[in-house]
Amino acid sequence: MTAVKSIAVMTSGGDSQGMNAAVRAVVRSALYHGLEVYGIQRGYKGLITDDIRPMDLRSVGDIIQRGGTILQTARCKEFHLPEVQQQAADILRKRGIDGLVVIGGDGSYQGANKLSKLGIKTMGLPGTIDNDISYTDYTIGFDTAVSIVVDAVNKLRDTMSSHERSSVVEVMGRHCGDIALTAGIASGAESILVPEVPFEIENVAAQMKANFEKGKRHSIVIVAEGVGSGEEIAAKITELSGIEPRVTVLGHIQRGGTPTHNDRNLASMLGDFAVRKLIEGDSGKACGIIKGELVATDIDLVVHSKKTFNHELYELAARLAK
Ligand code: ADP
Ligand code: F6P
Repeated sequence: MTAVKSIAVMTSGGDSQGMNAAVRAVVRSALYHGLEVYGIQRGYKGLITDDIRPMDLRSVGDIIQRGGTILQTARCKEFHLPEVQQQAADILRKRGIDGLVVIGGDGSYQGANKLSKLGIKTMGLPGTIDNDISYTDYTIGFDTAVSIVVDAVNKLRDTMSSHERSSVVEVMGRHCGDIALTAGIASGAESILVPEVPFEIENVAAQMKANFEKGKRHSIVIVAEGVGSGEEIAAKITELSGIEPRVTVLGHIQRGGTPTHNDRNLASMLGDFAVRKLIEGDSGKACGIIKGELVATDIDLVVHSKKTFNHELYELAARLAK
């Protein structure tokens, strides 16, 4: 027995590495269980314009290793409107699609929650590099984005050490400092600035000065974009200490490239899990992984909950980068 016979999958909002692996898992798991499966092009924009096509095993061949999303994605302001949400639900019903998997970030989850309240059986998969979704330890794309930042800081450390210079590296994460924190620990950054922890720029500048005085050959500050721009932080440090940090803004480099095996496997497990939950009759849930266990949490709770920042890890970073 299955609670759904025909499902659709879409990718929405900021893309992330591993979205293709998630789409592949949804399609292959659905076909394995005898469901019809459709791909919605360009997120909610494609949904409201009925840009929907049937998917088969070959539709998702040779994509597990590719960054980006074959279904593309889009920002779609009109989907905030109730009448547009109703139009989307009507399109799905007209096509006989009775289940929907939305792969995206917190904004996409808001849209999925609205469709759920309109009676569409929805499952959310956390597809964003920010790691800012509650009720999951990791989001799809986060591991790859962190690995890109760590690789970049490794390269910067070499040249900064040659010249005994300092560096300010701006990373993504509007409201969440997880990329900065996780990459900061892994790359031994001397300072990590995140939106969740207040700081005094005077202390950052003094710390950088002290680092060089005690013989360090480089000093690296990683700043999440939600704190401010790397250029502004560097200018303040120069004004306060006379040190002239070099600034690197990693930007959308963090959103491309082949997904790590962690993101591929997380995406594969969650994509298959979402399909099995829909078949079992579950819906209106956000899928995630907590302490290694796959979980499905009411999406209404998830969109109204804030991701908990790991202050312990933040303090560890401070203790170790001496
Ligand atoms: P992300 O999913 O990465 O956070 P956005 O915040 O851009 O990216 O959200 C993706 C899309 O989800 C938006 O372009 C819009 O179509 C839809 N969306 C976002 N917030 C809402 C909302 N409150 N209600 C309905 N739809 C929303
Ligand atoms: O939400 C993911 C994210 O990459 C953020 O970290 C970043 O601030 C934002 O998307 C960039 O949005 P866009 O790709 O639309 O410029």
